[in-house]
Amino acid sequence: MRLGISGVGLDDRFQDLGGHSLLAVQMLQDLRQASGIDLSPRDVMEHPTIRQLAALWREGQRDATPDDAAAVPAAVRQLLARGLGLEADALAPDEEIERERLEQAVPHLVWAARRRWGLPLYPHEILARPTSAALAELVQQQLDGRAPSQGEDDGAAIARDLETSAAAARRRCARLACRNPPAAFILSAARSGSTLLRVMLAGHPELFCPPELHLLMHTDLARRRDALPSEHFGRGLRRALQELLGDDAEVDGWLERRDEAPMAEVYAGLQRLARERGMTLVDKSPSYAASADTLCRAEELFEAPRYVFLTRHPHAAMESHVRNRMDAMARPGQRSRDPWAAAEHHWTTHNRNVLALLERIPDRRQVRVAFEELVQRPRAVMERLCAFLRVPFHEATLEPYAGGRMTDGPGDPAFHEHRGIDASLAEVQVQLPRPLTAASADVARRLGYDVDPKQGSAQ
Ligand code: A3P
Repeated sequence: MRLGISGVGLDDRFQDLGGHSLLAVQMLQDLRQASGIDLSPRDVMEHPTIRQLAALWREGQRDATPDDAAAVPAAVRQLLARGLGLEADALAPDEEIERERLEQAVPHLVWAARRRWGLPLYPHEILARPTSAALAELVQQQLDGRAPSQGEDDGAAIARDLETSAAAARRRCARLACRNPPAAFILSAARSGSTLLRVMLAGHPELFCPPELHLLMHTDLARRRDALPSEHFGRGLRRALQELLGDDAEVDGWLERRDEAPMAEVYAGLQRLARERGMTLVDKSPSYAASADTLCRAEELFEAPRYVFLTRHPHAAMESHVRNRMDAMARPGQRSRDPWAAAEHHWTTHNRNVLALLERIPDRRQVRVAFEELVQRPRAVMERLCAFLRVPFHEATLEPYAGGRMTDGPGDPAFHEHRGIDASLAEVQVQLPRPLTAASADVARRLGYDVDPKQGSAQ
């Protein structure tokens, strides 16, 4: 069905029928929903016929063991071996795998951990643990530590950080004498549906809306490289350039020439390439809203930039933050012991920073979009956004899964698990382990979200 053909034979090869990795993800999603059969895209690429896949699945069923603590090391070893193209017996628990080989196994491990334990693992966590024993320890820790612990004085911590960020927001943004042409920014906290919104806008032929660039907070690319939590986190820029330049060698040269150039020049280069294709740059990077100073830089570097402020109910965004282990992105010393406190802190400071920036921006340069409205009334939202970004409305913005939108870059790792815009996610019911702090509830109310002071269900 996914390949748009009927009568596929048992020995027809997936690739010969026009299959590729993105289609494999969607096909596996259908298969899992229809029959509970759980295979990875790598399985499909390496066992490309129905007969081979059926044999693989039967073999996996035989090997499956209950996931008690003793089973985790064996399961991780098996998954890692599969990712490396080895038999499980061929891999000793303490055998160190060299980085290049481990990188090849990363997509399979990320996929398999999500499927088997519902556990999101991030590439930098895997690359920091080059043995199966070390990876098993990480998995076990996460499986053991899922229950939320009580945060210590979260309210005070959030209020203190809001004070600091409000003071930064009050500082005037310096203005460069010569600024870059206008660009647009999508600002949001993480898990607010920003990947979906980005991909929808990326369908517009006049908008260049690549995966997360994470540029604004850095003075140049060399410092950006040192500061990023992982190489994978920074892949959006490379993906954007591949789209614009086509050739990897050209991308390398482009990046090398600008390694120490001021960030305004990096943006200017990207904007020039986009403009040659008749496109305006739209930069969506949730990391920008972490700091009022970073947001200020948009005003400093660009002529009259426009802002799309994407919001989501705090309960739903926080639940997604915890479920996806977003604090794994923080530097080790900055990780909170309580994932719910980290999620609340993230949601509140990000949204508060954007509110503070937008207080000083004229109405014609800002628009607010609620995730809940985006998924329930996508056409109305896209019409509004196209008018705001001064481009004609285009039907392609309503087809986020139509392809050709750089969805192989960084962003929501579960984006491909949906088949279209899923309106039901606007109504997710979430029970928080404890009420929001007063500071967070205040930000929620300012954004128009109802929050029950005693408990939490998204409304
Ligand atoms: P969850 O899947 O955890 O609920 P972001 O891209 O800002 O990180 O946001 C991720 C969230 O966007 C997802 O979080 C999901 O709610 C939402 N999302 C992703 N794809 C979607 C789709 N096709 N339809 C509706 N919502 C989607």
